[in-house]
Amino acid sequence: MGGGEKPELIINGKRLDGRTPVEPRPLKIEAGVVKNAVGSAYIEWGNNKIIAGVYGPKEALPKHVQDPERAIIKCRYQMSPFSSLEDHGRTGPNRRSIEISKVTKEVFENVVMLEKFPGSEIDLFIDVLQADGGTRAAGITAAAVAMAASGIPMTDMPFAVSVGKIGETLVLDMNKIEDNYSDADMPIAISPRTGNLLLLQMDGNLTKEQIRHGVEMVKEAGVEISRVQKEALKSSYEKISEKYKK
Ligand code: CDP
Repeated sequence: MGGGEKPELIINGKRLDGRTPVEPRPLKIEAGVVKNAVGSAYIEWGNNKIIAGVYGPKEALPKHVQDPERAIIKCRYQMSPFSSLEDHGRTGPNRRSIEISKVTKEVFENVVMLEKFPGSEIDLFIDVLQADGGTRAAGITAAAVAMAASGIPMTDMPFAVSVGKIGETLVLDMNKIEDNYSDADMPIAISPRTGNLLLLQMDGNLTKEQIRHGVEMVKEAGVEISRVQKEALKSSYEKISEKYKK
């Protein structure tokens, strides 16, 4: 939600990039892109470009962070210095990246079968190469594919997307300019098998009815997002099995 003169974001029912309110941006995911990661994925979602990598499970260190009952997840989301026009020259975590790392970690704590790896840590890295609004949702969606590709058992493969409000219209998957001038932004992560909400944040005001409607929009869009995630996994396995055939 930025300052300055607010541009008209919806004209004749269409958004500035031609989408309808319920239409997400084009989505592409590729699994198995980082050779040294146990699982990895690259996502292009609109103009966002993000890589997620999973390492472990391995002995949790330092030892005092170990949980004898289950694995712990360490998550580090970061934007590269060249990922947007805003200044990212300063290296190291900031308040926003620490927050996004925390909420992302919590999403995966709810689906990864942590009890199978007591005393271990699972490291999840999310690197934003290019940002255009909605990077936490895109990062979670990519990380879910990376986690699945790692073979670490999960109860489900989550996805995330954000719903915004422009005037009184709910819009799915806002880009940066929409995000800057929107009246509300609500990123949501869902476990599609159970319908459980794994993340729900809200910036701005939405009525109870708008929240209910927004969650429905996310669930509906999720059918296609989950399909793209599964397709990415499937084609990475096909590539591996082709390699072993030779
Ligand atoms: O990325 P997401 O929408 O999850 O988080 P946000 O904090 O609402 O940021 C919205 C967008 O603003 C990001 O996707 C980036 O395009 C941009 N942004 C940036 O370029 N640099 C920052 N330090 C923060 C945000």
